[in-house]
Amino acid sequence: MKFIETSAELGSTRGGAVVPTMGALHEGHASLIRAGAASGRPVLVTIFVNPTQFGPNEDYARYPRTLEADLKIAESAGAAAVFVPSIEAIYPNGIETAAAQAARFPLPPIATTPRLEDAIRPTHFGGVCQVVSRLFDLCEPSIAFFGEKDFQQLQVITQMVEQDSARWKSLKIIPCPTVREPDGLAMSSRNRYLDAAQRSSALGIWQALQSAMNCSTAAEGETLMRQILDQHGLETQYAVIRSPKTLGKLEPDGKSARALIAVKLGSIRLIDNAEIGV
Ligand code: PAJ
Repeated sequence: MKFIETSAELGSTRGGAVVPTMGALHEGHASLIRAGAASGRPVLVTIFVNPTQFGPNEDYARYPRTLEADLKIAESAGAAAVFVPSIEAIYPNGIETAAAQAARFPLPPIATTPRLEDAIRPTHFGGVCQVVSRLFDLCEPSIAFFGEKDFQQLQVITQMVEQDSARWKSLKIIPCPTVREPDGLAMSSRNRYLDAAQRSSALGIWQALQSAMNCSTAAEGETLMRQILDQHGLETQYAVIRSPKTLGKLEPDGKSARALIAVKLGSIRLIDNAEIGV
């Protein structure tokens, strides 16, 4: 596996598969890398903790950085190369303010209209689009893999690429299912912050999503999810059932729906989602 630190060394990896990450890799990331390898293309994993997608009171400084372990995971999952760029390589003109960035780069509607992650983390998707578009321009992949774990992010990136089809001509965005611990907790780089009591409370998230799968209406599902999250002592930021395409209200004739949850346990924030029948 090649270790790449400058964009000048990216040459031979262009045209392949890319898996963008912020490191602290786990089985969820590994599943994306394996899906990339299964596509038959060489897989380039990018590792970059992107400052512009963290809000001022979020965990940028203490985000886990575990490069040695990440390289082992990437290699055993089948990565051909890992790209660990410097801040200067990603932001050669320095870091813009969120407002300057928003003026220059119109975000796709799904980054601002659902009032989900966009409402709670108002500058988050601006930063995600900034870094992912830069990574796509540098790495020139033909296919890129993203997890459904971050469901709104996946839709934002898909729309961003569709919106600028001249820039990313034949780039395909491939969604990959959420990988869970045996008890249902979605794998996340932030799970390592949970103490034993929080780890057990966090199971309420998967229980809530599963209960929503058995409800006959969205309103019933939303009420039940909130009750279960409350019972587990979780602070609910949202627990909603939405259209999987627009993340807006469910269309009456929609065939599938998505339940989406964000909670806080002390200072730790967890998100998860699941497809549900209607
Ligand atoms: P990060 O949180 O490291 O996630 C990288 C990719 O792994 C994302 O596509 C995410 O959805 C996927 N992923 C995380 N946990 C997963 C799980 N349990 N199952 C399946 N896939 C999972 O998302 C980011 O980084 C950043 O925002 C990034 C896109 C790299 C831009 O900085």
